[in-house]
Amino acid sequence: EKIIVNGEMLERNGFYVDIEDRGYQFGDGIYEVIRVYEGRMYTQEEHLNRLYESAGKIGLNISYTKEELTDHLEKLIQSNQLDTGIIYMQFTRGASPRQHAFPVEPVPASYVAYTKVMARPEVFMKEGVKGHLVEDIRWLRCDIKSLNLLGNIMAKQSASEAGCFEAIQHRGETVTEGSSSNVFIVKEGAVITHPATNLILNGITRQEIQKLCSESGIVFEEREFTVTNLMAADEVFIASTTSEVMPIVEIDNTVIGDGKPGQVTKQLQTLFWNRVV
Ligand code: PDD
Repeated sequence: EKIIVNGEMLERNGFYVDIEDRGYQFGDGIYEVIRVYEGRMYTQEEHLNRLYESAGKIGLNISYTKEELTDHLEKLIQSNQLDTGIIYMQFTRGASPRQHAFPVEPVPASYVAYTKVMARPEVFMKEGVKGHLVEDIRWLRCDIKSLNLLGNIMAKQSASEAGCFEAIQHRGETVTEGSSSNVFIVKEGAVITHPATNLILNGITRQEIQKLCSESGIVFEEREFTVTNLMAADEVFIASTTSEVMPIVEIDNTVIGDGKPGQVTKQLQTLFWNRVV
């Protein structure tokens, strides 16, 4: 199996990370996850644009063009003969003697990418999954796709221990997002989701859903909603690169709607898939 390290294709076995790589030591870096369907990347342009945005927000310089990165990733997919799965890529601020401040002598960013076989979660998408409420304890720059995922990990672990698929995070009364997904409610036919502020990651899937809604006349509202609104919603779903449009049919033992994936959710699943193929 091949991986990309700083632009070069290497064997996965035998590559080591420097113990003072700032990604490893501080989580000082950013990443992206891109879906691959039938050997082709989906919305890679949008993901790469967000990668540069995240890099800019942490003062990290990516010395490759979008075309170069796309070329690396396409070669990686080919080389690993990936059909359906994901590409994971990350950039860190490189390896240098440990100190919190950025290295004085700029060091090149460390860049790795690899592929992973991952089926579409078709059974879960059809039947719906459970959500688990957790307080959002993360920092105030959730708009950056940072490698620092401790808050997200703790939220997901708490959901797993509760036997649930995803954590639904809230800051006080306001629902923000999942641990690795955005959260949407449907009320009287309108799709409502938290605005793309510093408190959430502006998901690429979220933006796709926004487009699908406007193309098909579904009302899409970016506004804050409360835990009470969530529990009383007609439908709830989450969305992400790996989970697509995923119905939430139960939250902490409260049944949402009639306990089955809702009409609008199912419509968005179909619209989403028609856009992919
Ligand atoms: N999750 N919010 C958070 C905190 C995330 O980590 C992710 C992505 C999203 C959805 O973003 P997108 O639609 O661009 O994937 C929202 C990872 C990559 C995943 O599970 O796919």
